[in-house]
Amino acid sequence: MPAVLDDVLGWLRCPNCGKPLSRVGETARCVSGHSFDIARQGYLSLLPPGWHGGADTAAMVAARAEFLAGGHFAAIAAAVADEARLAAAGQPGRCIAEIGAGTGYYLSAALDPLPAAFGLALDASKYALRRAAQADQRIGAVGCDIWHGLPVADGAAAALLDIFAPRNAAEFRRVLAPGGTLIVVAPNPAHLRELAPLGLLNQQPAKGERIARMLAPHFTQEAERQVTTTMNLSQADVRNVVMMGPAARHIEPDQLRATAAELPVTLSVTLSRWR
Ligand SMILES: C[S@@+](CC[C@H](N)C(=O)[O-])C[C@H]1O[C@@H](n2cnc3c(N)ncnc32)[C@H](O)[C@@H]1O
Ligand SMILES: [Zn+2]
Repeated sequence: MPAVLDDVLGWLRCPNCGKPLSRVGETARCVSGHSFDIARQGYLSLLPPGWHGGADTAAMVAARAEFLAGGHFAAIAAAVADEARLAAAGQPGRCIAEIGAGTGYYLSAALDPLPAAFGLALDASKYALRRAAQADQRIGAVGCDIWHGLPVADGAAAALLDIFAPRNAAEFRRVLAPGGTLIVVAPNPAHLRELAPLGLLNQQPAKGERIARMLAPHFTQEAERQVTTTMNLSQADVRNVVMMGPAARHIEPDQLRATAAELPVTLSVTLSRWR
């Protein structure tokens, strides 16, 4: 099992009783006797037993990994890394946690300028967790369902990242250290608009407002910035960007084959910072 799980265990808590966890062989246990296996693939699953939710499938995660490796979302990763560095600067805590971390692409970018920090990649998909555990030696990958409550100790995180992922405002507040920062990335209506004919859901115009309404009881927005550019996507890139999201469930392979060899596609997201 990766050494990093020992480094991050102190920031975790038992998902059943909330007590601290300690390592016993290839398991993590709390004092009440709840025990959780560390998977061969290097992640710790704190998911409720038998959990079957809407986590990303193996095919979605593989498409995401391949698409992100092309660097098309590098501008988002750079903006996130910048914000995480600022967030961690004023914080004694050294834990950067990402909710719905997927392959660990953004968390790994956030850790780059922070040599003393550790990352917690939280996700419900075992396929995502396997990748996140490999993404960086300083990332501990942990399985959880954010609607069940985060298996993270109160005030553990200096910064919390939520990038195209579900949000649980009350839990985010609880696990952030006093003075800690929440960094949210969400798509704008123009994001990937050229791919709408392929069944990619149009982003709801009022998404920013919905996020603000949901976070408002627990957070105050401190800043906001736009990340906008045009990507040149190959047919393979287009296939991956479609297949990494929920549209993968209804797309016909013929529709993908019919796309242009090279397609200019809009990247347009809002990054917001909350305290
Ligand atoms: C759209 S993907 C974004 C992944 C990553 N942040 C990125 O942008 O590359 C959403 C992620 O949230 C995870 N997820 C969905 N529902 C979840 C839940 N209830 N608890 C934890 N993770 C969840 C999925 O498995 C998936 O990896
Ligand atoms: Zn317990």
